[in-house]
Amino acid sequence: SGPLSGCRVGGSLMCLETIDSTNTEAKRQAMAGAPDGLVIVSEEQTGGRGRRGRSFQSPKGKGLYLTALLRPRLDPSQVADITAWVAVAVCDGIEAACGVRPQIKWTNDLVLEGRKLCGILTELGLESESNDLDYLITGIGINVNHTPEDFDAEVRPIATSLAQALGRPVSRPALAAEVIREVDRLYAALAAGESGPYLTEYRRRGVNLGRTVRLLGPDGGETAEALDIDGDFGLVVRTADGGIRTVRSGEVSVRGLYGYTE
Ligand code: BTN
Repeated sequence: SGPLSGCRVGGSLMCLETIDSTNTEAKRQAMAGAPDGLVIVSEEQTGGRGRRGRSFQSPKGKGLYLTALLRPRLDPSQVADITAWVAVAVCDGIEAACGVRPQIKWTNDLVLEGRKLCGILTELGLESESNDLDYLITGIGINVNHTPEDFDAEVRPIATSLAQALGRPVSRPALAAEVIREVDRLYAALAAGESGPYLTEYRRRGVNLGRTVRLLGPDGGETAEALDIDGDFGLVVRTADGGIRTVRSGEVSVRGLYGYTE
């Protein structure tokens, strides 16, 4: 019995040398009928994808590029917060494997020492007739053994890796096993509707609270004070006019992080 025996997630595992994107491959596999819990990892991605159509640099042998394919028997509305849960699971996996404690920048960047350590991209596949959830794929990109030179000039100042923070290389297979185990645990909690522990840990790890944030919108942005995370993982803010509202999606910059200092 290996480290993942008894886990649904990782019950089937595809280890690739190279791929365009593990998320795109998971989508192809899902449409071809792949089983619930399939995990795909690749040594490199030639077209790694980030949120909002951005690319995700995925140099060979440096990071952990991992996607899990899940087929929960839930409505799309019941998995709306899933990326926040995954952020908690990945933090727990990293902490178990390496002993460092990442924080979470709302909604789902993992941050270590004020720099981005990991990004998560979740995508849903719906059945077109019924709008039922067909599959959910969650893609996790962790910077593991990158040196500063492994990042492009524009992300270098805002990115870090586990090796940079620890001053030693980290075993990617050992890290992958811990992350998969935590995603498996998450999957069981999701099926049981047990969001409580994830919400608690999400709040504990949040870097936004009590800080000034910039809400990035279509017409520039708006400065606000981040007050709380509500029961649905929304960010409660006080805007300049004193109004309180909850941001459910989109993007925020946190003053003091990633070079946002104005
Ligand atoms: C982001 O920060 O915008 C999300 C980045 C997500 C990157 C991961 S790497 C594994 C998976 N495959 C992809 O193409 N993207 C995700």
